[in-house]
Amino acid sequence: MKKLGVAVIGTGFWGKNHARVYKELEETELLAVCDIDAGRAKAVAQQFGVKHYSKPSQMLKNKEIDAVSICTWSTVLAKEALRALDAGKHVLVEKPMAANTKQAEKLVQIAEKERLHLSVGFLMRFIPGLQHIKGAAAKKTIGELVCATAKRVSQWPERIGDVGVVKDTAIHDIDVVAYLFSEEPVAIYAKTGNMMNRKFEDYAQIMLTFEEGKTAFIESNWLTPYKTRTLEVTGSAAIMKLDYITQELTVETEKETVQPRYPIKEPLKLELQHFANCILKKEKPLITGTDGVKALRIAEAALRSSVTGKAIKLK
Ligand SMILES: NC(=O)c1ccc[n+]([C@@H]2O[C@H](COP(=O)([O-])OP(=O)(O)OC[C@H]3O[C@@H](n4cnc5c(N)ncnc54)[C@H](O)[C@@H]3O)[C@@H](O)[C@H]2O)c1
Repeated sequence: MKKLGVAVIGTGFWGKNHARVYKELEETELLAVCDIDAGRAKAVAQQFGVKHYSKPSQMLKNKEIDAVSICTWSTVLAKEALRALDAGKHVLVEKPMAANTKQAEKLVQIAEKERLHLSVGFLMRFIPGLQHIKGAAAKKTIGELVCATAKRVSQWPERIGDVGVVKDTAIHDIDVVAYLFSEEPVAIYAKTGNMMNRKFEDYAQIMLTFEEGKTAFIESNWLTPYKTRTLEVTGSAAIMKLDYITQELTVETEKETVQPRYPIKEPLKLELQHFANCILKKEKPLITGTDGVKALRIAEAALRSSVTGKAIKLK
């Protein structure tokens, strides 16, 4: 089978992992990496025995590269994704996809026009326990969905300096609840703030309301000295609790409490393998560019709600 020629733009903390996983996967051949910090690009390239660049435009001239991961700072993701799409490459752009919804919509438009695959790095969807909950929602073994509560708190990751906790962190949970409920919220109410005098908000409480009374509550912050990443979904027939860190899933019903076991797999490996197979084998994409636009729109509404003190209705 022909391997997918891939490259990574942005080789910081997360891009390095994309490069490693592409090197490990059978479906992909890592050809090059690029970072505006030439030293970083060179170090990662040497580790994996590939070419390195400090200018994305130079690297994108390589016709062997079919697809790229964009792992730059959040506010330049869209610019680099657009450049890659314009060069005819399939793109996996990291969350939050773009600095604003308008930029994200443009990416979707160009990808559709050029018939290129566009995906967004919503890694949580690749955790088996989350797929279990999604399956239970689809088959209604959880009953009717009532509400979801997500908590994602930790210390401030100092390298993140261009967006706040909503677009960087809460956006994972925003995507998860829209995915589980298979719909966009009708209204968003949020309170965000900046406790540590940073440039952007470092805590957020976000409430989303959906059709037929379903609700979701998302708590995110960069103020907690330890890391918690959990999800609790309440249905009329069961409560499902997922710890994203341990990947432990607990299902409670009136009769019993069980812990379905799934082999622990690296979510990034599953994500990039699926990305490659969407292009090579035309697998049905689990995440589309439109999912990214939707999540960003909700994140922006949450930030607006916090400024106005009012719930924001989405059309
Ligand atoms: N999906 C996930 O779970 C997950 C986890 C971590 C980070 N991320 C996302 O990945 C992205 C990178 O995060 P990080 O923690 O690695 O940050 P980082 O600061 O460690 O790395 C970003 C790198 O991008 C480089 N860069 C910036 N602009 C560039 C450009 N125009 N061209 C080439 N290189 C450029 C920087 O020099 C830096 O090396 C962010 O968007 C973040 O939200 C996603």
